[in-house]
Amino acid sequence: MHIHRLEKIWLAIGIAMLFVFLGVIGVGAFAMGMQPPTGHHTIDPEKVSETYPFNNPGLEQVGENEYNAYMIAYAFGFNPAKMEVPLGATVHFQVTSPDVVHGFQITGTTVNLMAVPGEVNHYTYRFDKPGEYLVLCNEYCGAGHEFMATTIIVK
Ligand code: CUA
Repeated sequence: MHIHRLEKIWLAIGIAMLFVFLGVIGVGAFAMGMQPPTGHHTIDPEKVSETYPFNNPGLEQVGENEYNAYMIAYAFGFNPAKMEVPLGATVHFQVTSPDVVHGFQITGTTVNLMAVPGEVNHYTYRFDKPGEYLVLCNEYCGAGHEFMATTIIVK
């Protein structure tokens, strides 16, 4: 009898925590939606997949072994899901999110961006070592957070 009640209490606490968490996300998303546009680094988070250049995510060559990489971090994955980069390429990453804040960290490099709804964050990196680079989300973003990963293959 006592154990049964205790289980119920823990279940109630668990559910309450879930609602608090969802509330925080909801308020956060609402607050971000209220931000006024501040120039060329903003994007409508609800129209990411229709907005150039994120309507065609991935690599775009902009020079001799120089590329822009348009990346969307979403709940719960990355678009493109896989990317190949030529060895020695300089890559200008542009990262955004259509939903909540995610991370965009490429292990073994200095690339560590936040993917923020409504914003486009930039970072430039040159891939001088061949191999498979794991891309991870390092901002807790919900139930599928630990499954957010992709690979960049440099060869
Ligand atoms: Cu996306 Cu954690």
